[in-house]
Formats: sequence, structure tokens, C-alpha cells
Amino acid sequence: MAFALTDKQATDQWSPDGWLARETLQQPVYRDTEALDAALKELSALPPIVTSWEVESLRGAIAEAQQGESFVLQGGDCAETFEECTSDIIVSRLKVLLQMSLVLSYGLRKPIVRIGRMAGQYAKPRSAPLESREEVSLPSFRGDLVNRESFTTGDREPDPKLLLRGYERAALTLNFIRSLVDGGFADLHHPENWDLDWVNHSPQSQAYEVIVDRITRSLDFIEHSTGRDLSRLRRTDFYTSHEGLLLHYEQAQTRYLDHRGLWYDLTAHFPWIGMRTAAPDGGHVEFFRGVANPMGIKIGPGMTPEWLLDLLRILNPKNQPGRITLIHRMGAGKVGDVLPPLIDAVQRAGALVLWMCDPMHGNIETVANGRKTRRLENIEAELRQAFELHSSAGTVLGGVHLELTGENVTECIGGARGLDEAGLDKSYRTQVDPRLNYEQAMELAMLITQQAAA
Ligand code: PEP
Ligand code: CO
Repeated sequence: MAFALTDKQATDQWSPDGWLARETLQQPVYRDTEALDAALKELSALPPIVTSWEVESLRGAIAEAQQGESFVLQGGDCAETFEECTSDIIVSRLKVLLQMSLVLSYGLRKPIVRIGRMAGQYAKPRSAPLESREEVSLPSFRGDLVNRESFTTGDREPDPKLLLRGYERAALTLNFIRSLVDGGFADLHHPENWDLDWVNHSPQSQAYEVIVDRITRSLDFIEHSTGRDLSRLRRTDFYTSHEGLLLHYEQAQTRYLDHRGLWYDLTAHFPWIGMRTAAPDGGHVEFFRGVANPMGIKIGPGMTPEWLLDLLRILNPKNQPGRITLIHRMGAGKVGDVLPPLIDAVQRAGALVLWMCDPMHGNIETVANGRKTRRLENIEAELRQAFELHSSAGTVLGGVHLELTGENVTECIGGARGLDEAGLDKSYRTQVDPRLNYEQAMELAMLITQQAAA
């Protein structure tokens, strides 16, 4: 069935600053507008973080995942911090994503498209613009791109210079990732590069080693018997993503490329729109409808079929493959009720989307000691149901969106080592949401291969 467009939206004029005329939620109030203008001017003149060639190649890769030909793994921190822009932390995060993708590619027998929540995930939506402690109210902390975490008047004041510091940190992070990947770190023949020092004798690492051994032998076998250099397999593409929240930042790195006749947001390959900022007539949707990047839309339990179809019409009027990824994050208790009507509406409209499950954000809870956590059993339950729901609807669950780290953190409950509430305090370090540690992430990768094969 053809996807019905509203002609007006398809032909509307668009400009990079058109969002300023719309209601735009979750933006800081910059009181020093001169400093803001100066920072944005500088940011606009700096070279882009990613290129349109890469962005287009990711769109093509997502279009393939829509057909079930590949699987997308999107993962990283809830919030990156400037302080954690260190080689160890970047490498360990990359290692976990590479190890997970190795397990997934082997188990699913498909190429894995890797997208890090990295190199720009510095701005966070907040439930309230102000935070109050005792008699004092200050602007909420909105991530390192906006202000500083400590509760003082000076630190909480949104600081435009942080837009430049964030751009620089993103560029440093991606530069390091690119060097690692191009230099052979991601070579499938050398997965020993990806071992994490602190992982000892975990059940996941043993299962992982068996898989690594099989893959290495089968690669060697193919190369010897065909005499072909599988060099394309040696290089691992790696893409970046962040929530496209702070529109001044996104706009400043948005360029019109003559050779393509299109606008691109070159802060990242794959921005996503959070549901809190997904009003069809709001500033975020207005901004992102005009850029050619593939993009995600987070959809939670409050999403309605009408709202979703509006978003698809506005953001993808030509129904272009690879353009839209719907990242559903419903919670284990709700996904069975709320996802099927949305799948049905999208199918009836004939809209092309990649369905991706974020089993993290609908399963947050606060336990007795006040810690915000997630239980692996709920994460797994949502993921399992998501696979089943798509399979019975005849749609493809083509990706997963996770919050994880390569550090040995204790932020989510459960997993092979039975981390419990009391154990959370051992190494609870996240700035915002609780992340999976290495073992928990690998456990999920194995679960995904079982589910997808079922
Ligand atoms: C996030 O991805 O970190 C996030 C805030 O998600 P959501 O908007 O889906 O709650
Ligand atoms: Co989060």
C-alpha cells in the first residue's frame, strides 16, 4: 500500500533555524546571548565531525536491516561525560560493542551495524527545569554540553562555551575510534584485542571464547580455501549517535551540501528524537525533518498510532528506506499491550521503518537504598516479548538499543553473578541511568541470538 503523504508537509520550506519559531522543549536558557552567539559562530565554522558519505552509508545499512538482512546494535552510555573522554574508557566501551557484535553476527548469521551512543551524547532531557535543595532552586543539570553538575549558582548556569568543549570531546573521541578501527583493532582475525582485563572466569567469557574460536577458524578456512583476502571483513564500520536534544548545537553543525542538494546534521551519523521532544509541531520535529540523516524516534507507552503516523509523515514524507528507526522502550509489563497497535498502524500505512527495541528505559526503578536501577530479568523479558510480538505481526525486530559500559560497574541488578540490591553500592558510577556491565551486556547478546533464531 502506498504511504499517504500530506503534500503541504512534503513541500514546506525548511531552514536550519526554523525550529526557533516553534515551541522547543528541553532547551537551557542562555542568559548571556552574546556569548551564545559567539560560541555558535565558532562552532558553525569548525569542520564537521562526520561526513555525508558516512551518513549515507549508514542509511543504506539501516535500509538493509529493515529487510532483515542485517542487525543494528546501538549502545553506549546514557550520558557521556567530558571527564570520561579517556583512552581506557573509550577502548573498553568499543571492546564490549565489538564483542557483542561478534556474538550477534555469529549467532544471527548476519552483518551487524554498530552504532555507538558515543562522541556527542552529552545533553540530557530532565523532568524539571529547576532543581531545589532546601531553600535554593537552580537550573537542573542537563549534561556536560550545557552546564556543570555541582549544585552552585555558577556551575548550574548554562555556559555556551561548553558547546565548543563538547564538540571537541566528540571529535577527540571519534578520532581515536577511527584510528583504532582503521589501524586494525577491529580486525575480525584478532578478537584477542578486545579482551577486557578485569573479566575473569565469567560464564560469559567462556561462552564467548568458544564463539571466537569458531569464527576465527571459519574465517581462516574461507581464506585458505578461496585464496581470497577477506579484507572487507577486517574493517569494522562504526557509526555514532546521540539524542538530538540541544538544537543550537545540532544547527551549528548542519550544512547544505551542494553535491547532494541536501542538508545534513554532521554532529553524528544518527541522531534520535526523544519522545519528550517529539511533538509533531514542536521545534525538534521541525528541525529534524529538514536534515537527510537516518534518525531514530524513541517511542514509549504514551505513543498513539495517530501521533506516530503524523511523525512518519512529517519526518519521512517520501517513505525513504533507512530513514526512520522506531526505538520502542515500553517496559516489560507494558510492551505486550502497547506495541501491537503501533506495529499495526505502521504496517497499514505501508511506512518503511526499522524496528528497534530499547529494553532499558521502560524498566527503570528505584530500590530501597535510593539507587536507580534496572533488573536484567525485566530487560530480558521486554526483549523476548518484543521479538515475539514482531514475529507474530510479521515485522522484523532489526535492532537493539542498550545502555552499557565496558567498566566493571554495579548499576543493574541480576545476571550470571547474581548482583543484588546490596551489591549496587560497590561500583555505582553512572551520571544518569544505570548501565549494563560487560557480563550483563554479553548475556543479552547471547539472549538476542537465541531469540532471533527461535
Ligand atoms: C536515553 O536514551 O538516555 C533516554 C533519556 O531515553 P528516553 O528518552 O527513551 O527515556
Ligand atoms: Co538513559
